Amino acid sequence: MKKKIAILAGDGIGPEVVAQGMKVLDAIAERYGHEFQYCHADIGARAIKKTGDPLPAATLETCLNTDAILLGAIGDPEYDNNLDLTVRPEQGLLRLRKALGLYCNIRPVKTYAELLHISPLKKEYIEGVDMVIYRELTSGIYFGEKGKSADGKSAFDTCKYEVHEIERITKHAFDAATRRRKKVTLVDKANVLESSRLWRSVVTEYAKQYPEVKLEYMYVDNAAMQLVLCPKQFDVILTGNMFGDILSDASSVLVGSLGMLPSSSVGLKTSLFEPIHGSYPQAAGKDIANPIATIKSVGLMLQSMGLYKEALAIGNAVSLCLTKGIGTPDVSPVITYTCSQMGDVISSIITGSEVNSDKVEQGVSTII
Ligand code: IPM
Ligand code: MG
Repeated sequence: MKKKIAILAGDGIGPEVVAQGMKVLDAIAERYGHEFQYCHADIGARAIKKTGDPLPAATLETCLNTDAILLGAIGDPEYDNNLDLTVRPEQGLLRLRKALGLYCNIRPVKTYAELLHISPLKKEYIEGVDMVIYRELTSGIYFGEKGKSADGKSAFDTCKYEVHEIERITKHAFDAATRRRKKVTLVDKANVLESSRLWRSVVTEYAKQYPEVKLEYMYVDNAAMQLVLCPKQFDVILTGNMFGDILSDASSVLVGSLGMLPSSSVGLKTSLFEPIHGSYPQAAGKDIANPIATIKSVGLMLQSMGLYKEALAIGNAVSLCLTKGIGTPDVSPVITYTCSQMGDVISSIITGSEVNSDKVEQGVSTII
């Protein structure tokens, strides 16, 4: 199979983790006889520095002319430390999501037996957690009307949803539930927000088409608590843009590290794959970031292309590393690897190059 992939490395650790994602794609190409062509484009703070725009027209063009997009991370301390700057890296990502119609963001959260001990939560609560968050990504409070009064003494953001925006992601969530444990939890704040009440009525109505799927409702404050108290109750979580943003970061605590969680965003024109973590500027350039979230995002990309055994090969290679106790510092591994060594070892497992376990255990080398 021949595919063109847009590479939007972005800021901070973005380029480092994306480089590992490409290594793994190359390994897949070699092992399974595919051809992946990469088209690099700028986004975020990097793009502002070069062009003054966090989403240059050329980047959008590249994304529209490729089969899928791999994105690293967006964000830069220069902007975090000066919130008055009006041109901001995050605008690049938000505009990209909107322009490409990427309304459905899918964030799988699955705990690994080998990493249970690094979570601050008790093992018996998180063992076997397997859920997926369906986060609406192109509407709600992120994109509603916003403003600030002339005297600077008040500001507002509007959370607005339309029926069709709720329906189209609800379909994805329920379709997923039918393939999984057949339960959808709609997370909202319907006791307070009008937009949440719209979500409830639309989802309740839509759910009638899926009699085999159980629909539950949960207020977002309770959901935040239930996520840490009793996470195994969740199968598919369906929620709006901001609640999904918050709950997905919280759910990474179950897995042990934000560096482990991938995501895919699907919608009208194309699909985008990115780790859920940010640009982690403190680690940028140090080769210590965990590339697994990005590598697993590559797995989701391959799955979306119908390359199931290739996606499985990535999942198996990641699991093998964890079983051997190999990992980047964030997962407190037995054998600490750099970001690029992780990319190397996962690629070599995929291509079938033999891994020398003695040397791996000594932390000396990964490949004979
Ligand atoms: C995410 C991120 C983004 C978001 C930021 C970088 C704008 O936190 O993808 O979860 O809030 O959606
Ligand atoms: Mg987030």
